[in-house]
Amino acid sequence: MKITISAIKADLGAIGGHIKPSQDLLAAVRNYIAAKSKGILIDYKITYTGDDIAILSTHEKGAENGKVHQLCWDAFITGMKVAKEQGLYGAGQDLLKLDFRGTCKGLGPAVAEMEFEEREAEPFLFLAADKTDPGAFNLPAYLSFCDPMHNSGLVISSKIRQGYIFKIMDVGCVNAEKIIELKTPEEIYDVAVLLRDQERFAVESVWSRATNEQAAVISTTRLHNIAGKYVGKDDPVMLVRTQKEFPGGGEILSPYSIGHLVAGFMRGSHNGPLMPVKQGTDVSFFDGPPIVSAAAYSVHDGKLTEAVDCFDHPYWDYVRTQISKKAQDIRRQGFFGPAMLGMGELEYTDMAQTLKNLEKRFTIKKAD
Ligand code: F6R
Ligand code: MG
Ligand code: MG
Repeated sequence: MKITISAIKADLGAIGGHIKPSQDLLAAVRNYIAAKSKGILIDYKITYTGDDIAILSTHEKGAENGKVHQLCWDAFITGMKVAKEQGLYGAGQDLLKLDFRGTCKGLGPAVAEMEFEEREAEPFLFLAADKTDPGAFNLPAYLSFCDPMHNSGLVISSKIRQGYIFKIMDVGCVNAEKIIELKTPEEIYDVAVLLRDQERFAVESVWSRATNEQAAVISTTRLHNIAGKYVGKDDPVMLVRTQKEFPGGGEILSPYSIGHLVAGFMRGSHNGPLMPVKQGTDVSFFDGPPIVSAAAYSVHDGKLTEAVDCFDHPYWDYVRTQISKKAQDIRRQGFFGPAMLGMGELEYTDMAQTLKNLEKRFTIKKAD
C-alpha cells in the first residue's frame, strides 16, 4: 500500500515564555484533529517537544495535499486562539502568514512529508527539535548515512554500502528552493563541505541508491526568509525510515550521543549542545539546552503502533549528564565569541543598531 507520512509542527505559544504548550492548547489541537480528520487521515499522533506541537499523520493523499494541510492549519489556528485566550507567550509564533492557500509550507509551520510503498515491515523514526534550526540535523544525518563509525551497515550490508543520495538545500536562498544532489560515498567530502555550515545548508532528504527509496526527509523552513526578519528559531522535524536498505534505528540515534553544538538556545541567538530528550520534555536552563526527541513507530496499512520513546532509556541519562557539562562549559563564556551566534544569525537586530551608533564615535588616529 502506498502511504504518506506527514509531520507538521508549529510553535503556537507557551507557558512562562517559550517553555511548553499548556494542556488546554494541546487539547484544542487534539480535539480539532479528532473531530475533523475522518476521511482525510488514516492515523495520527499529537505530541510536543519544548514549545512546539507536532501533528504526525498517515494518509493516502501524497505530500503537500490541500486537505491534510488545511486540517493541520485549522487545528493550529484553533490552538492559537486558545493560546491567546490564556495569555500564552508567543501565541501563534509560527503562523507567520495567515492567508492559507492549500499548503502550510511557506507560512511558518515546519513540514516534513514522505510518500512511499509500505514494506512488509515498515519501521520509522520521528524526530523533533526545539530551540534550534534545521541545520541541527546536518551532523547526525551525515554520520548515520556516511560514517561506518555510527552506521555499521556501511561495512556489513551490501545494500547500504551502495550509498545514498543527499538532497541539500541552500537555505540562504530566499525566493526559491535551491537544492543540490550529491552521491555518497564518492561525493562524501562535498557533502561534508556543505553540511559543516549548519546555518547555510540543510539536508532536505536522503535516498537509498540500492532501491531508489526515500530514507529521510527534514523540514527546511527558515522563518526569517518568510517573515523578512528574524522571528523565532525554525525548530525542525525529521522523518526517517529504518532497517534493511536504510540505517538501523540505533544507527540513526547513535550520533545524538555527541551533543554537537547547534544554533539556538536562549533568544535563538546562541550556540549550545543538542540534548536528546524524552517526548514532552520542556526547556529550562537558558531556554535550553537545544533539545531533540525521537519516537519510533511501525506502520502497516497506514495504521501506527504505539510510540517507543527512544531517548527514554538509562543510556541517554548518562549522555544527558555529559551534555549538561558541555552546556555549562559554553555558557561560562556568556555572550563572548562562539558562545553567541554571529550578527547574521541573531534573532535580534538591536545589536546592529548599537554598532551603527558606536561607529559614529570611532576616531581615526592620525600617523605622526
Ligand atoms: C523557539 C523559540 C525561540 C524564541 C527566542 C526569542 O522555540 O521560541 O527561539 O524565538 O527565544 O524569543 P523572545 O524574543 O520572544 O524572547
Ligand atoms: Mg517559541
Ligand atoms: Mg519552539
